[in-house]
Amino acid sequence: MEQNSENRFELGARLAVCAGFVRKGKIPADIGTDHAFLPIYLVTEGIVPAAYASDINEDPIRSARSHIARYGLDDKIITFTCDGLADIPPDKADDIIIAGMGGDNIAAILGRADWLKNSRYRLILQPMSRASRLREFLYGNGFEIREEKAVCEANRVYTVICAEYCPDAPSYEEYDLYAGRLDASDPNAAALLRKQAGILLSVAEGCAAKKDYAGQAHYIQLAERLIAGSKGE
Ligand SMILES: C[S@@+](CC[C@H](N)C(=O)[O-])C[C@H]1O[C@@H](n2cnc3c(N)ncnc32)[C@H](O)[C@@H]1O
Repeated sequence: MEQNSENRFELGARLAVCAGFVRKGKIPADIGTDHAFLPIYLVTEGIVPAAYASDINEDPIRSARSHIARYGLDDKIITFTCDGLADIPPDKADDIIIAGMGGDNIAAILGRADWLKNSRYRLILQPMSRASRLREFLYGNGFEIREEKAVCEANRVYTVICAEYCPDAPSYEEYDLYAGRLDASDPNAAALLRKQAGILLSVAEGCAAKKDYAGQAHYIQLAERLIAGSKGE
């Protein structure tokens, strides 16, 4: 987070996309907050009146508290040292942000908070890896991915998923777990789709090495579909 010439704070591209999904006037909870840059930005910009910030480790929470104090926000950003959403009050938080963790860890955190199965919450999720596993958790537990946006930071492309509980959402197919709701007309999204295709081609090679030719054909077909999707076909 940096202070620009107008004395306003700027987030890095990845957290800026997360911030863009937070609903104005709602109360966000930033899980795995570390430095607390995201809630500090949201409150100082007047996007939200207050926020929660949690982290499982003491050192990040100490860093978060020191940043929060530096900006005089102790009465607006409440911190917890806890696992995931364990101490977040379900009746007060609206938008749940979990950024900068692996997709499996994010899914596990969500899985321990059954109260999120309510359309009043918005989930803003930024997996560093295994986005497909996170999408599988979401689809399999009644959450719908409303929007997904790819973002490039430090030469690496990430996805940010915006999801809500919607048990009547249409069913999904395996392709959706890899393609998500990325919009291929965005070059960053197209790059992510091609990267995912490359991962699936490696999986196909692994299948071939084990003489699993049906598996090989399956993953090659998925990869080809992703490459076609990345070209908007
Ligand atoms: C790489 S940092 C991400 C910080 C920030 N959210 C971002 O995206 O820049 C990941 C943070 O998640 C925290 N973390 C990992 N597992 C967690 C869990 N189960 N509950 C809460 N925090 C967790 C770690 O302690 C660490 O501070």
